[in-house]
Amino acid sequence: MAAGNAVDPFWMLYSIHLNPHVLNILEKYRIGNLDPKDNNDVVSDMSDPFANEPTRHPLLKPASEKPFNAEAPEYILVENFLTPNDIFYVRNHLPVPDIQVDTYALEVEIEGKSKILTLSLDDLKKFPKHSVTSTVMCAGNRRSEMHKVKPVKGLNWGAAALGNATWTGASLREVLEAAGLSENEIDKYQHIQFEAYDTDTTGSPYGASIPIWKGVDRRGDVILAYEMNGETLPRDHGFPVRAVVPGVVGARNVKWLAKIIVASEESQSHWQQKDYKGFSPSTDWDTVDYSKSPSIQELPVTSAICQPMNNATVDVKDGKITAKGYAWSGGGQEIVRVDVSCDGGKTWHVAKFDFHDANKSPQHWSWTLWSCDLPVPKGTNKMEIIVKAVDSSYNTQPELFENIWNLRGVLNNAYHRIKVNLK
Ligand code: MTE
Repeated sequence: MAAGNAVDPFWMLYSIHLNPHVLNILEKYRIGNLDPKDNNDVVSDMSDPFANEPTRHPLLKPASEKPFNAEAPEYILVENFLTPNDIFYVRNHLPVPDIQVDTYALEVEIEGKSKILTLSLDDLKKFPKHSVTSTVMCAGNRRSEMHKVKPVKGLNWGAAALGNATWTGASLREVLEAAGLSENEIDKYQHIQFEAYDTDTTGSPYGASIPIWKGVDRRGDVILAYEMNGETLPRDHGFPVRAVVPGVVGARNVKWLAKIIVASEESQSHWQQKDYKGFSPSTDWDTVDYSKSPSIQELPVTSAICQPMNNATVDVKDGKITAKGYAWSGGGQEIVRVDVSCDGGKTWHVAKFDFHDANKSPQHWSWTLWSCDLPVPKGTNKMEIIVKAVDSSYNTQPELFENIWNLRGVLNNAYHRIKVNLK
């Protein structure tokens, strides 16, 4: 990509790769060293592309600083049905763009039509205001558990790379209608592409796409959101406008939205074609063929224990301890049951739902927060707790990570297990 020019700007943007592991790989390609007096090409006045990032809450634990990727400690997730904005996980591939409201423009294009609709933020706010409460989850949530089975490439997320929020904005469906997409034309197209304002060193934007039915169906509930939990959308979460695609993997919920294209093809972006896809446990980096796997859209059912956290010491009261956590399924499936075991799966206790949205499948977009009292046999001082959830299609979680391992560490939905010390 440097095409004969200095590579320094790339190292600054992709600083996540500037680590001993990558430098070690590059070492075998070293052909020599520059004499400092010939070092004319090095860009000396380079500014840090991450210099203008927002301030973040101290509870967000970074999985990487530049770009910024962080999650809150698991215990805090179950305190609120709606995750507070400042502790909602952040997943950025590139620097946060600095967008001015006055000049913000959202383009809407329908392939084959010459007219492009251009909307300012004020124009978007003139559309009827819709709210949807939806969980957004990263495909790599819980990757650290899969990584323990066999190393995978990706950010080492714990179990908090998700959050639940009320998103408010215009309906994508209504905006597409305003752009001239009529009911009888829909079948000509297969995808809705999103392009964003965050760009890489070559100027190419973050992008993704969703199947067209999701955006045009009245029940798809796709929102072009400018508010999150009743507040202006924060910069880290896509200010001023992001797509919220309920039930669909975080990667397609495109932030800092610049353009929408109704198209016959999927987005050709790296993140749609060469990332966020699942593979067999036997596929390795020599055999992987990204063109052979579909891009992830709806996520499978998952659950996790958030309180107590792994390795915590817990007080036993009246012969019991209480576990709390979340469960969620993609595609608008509702969680119908959460099973918890503390004897290795010999007996299962059905958890109580503390927060459960009233919306029915296939429009159940929020997580379920649950709690469960577990009996502790006298004299026990250590215990493993296991959880699995069941959704309204009666899909449940796989038992072991070994059988769902994949080289990028996505779709990490095996039973969640934690160990606790008891006193
Ligand atoms: N949109 C843009 N423009 N750039 C990004 O890096 N990251 C995606 C998605 N939308 C991303 C994006 C990914 S991978 C996820 S998981 C979600 O945003 C995270 O949303 P959040 O940071 O608001 O939690």
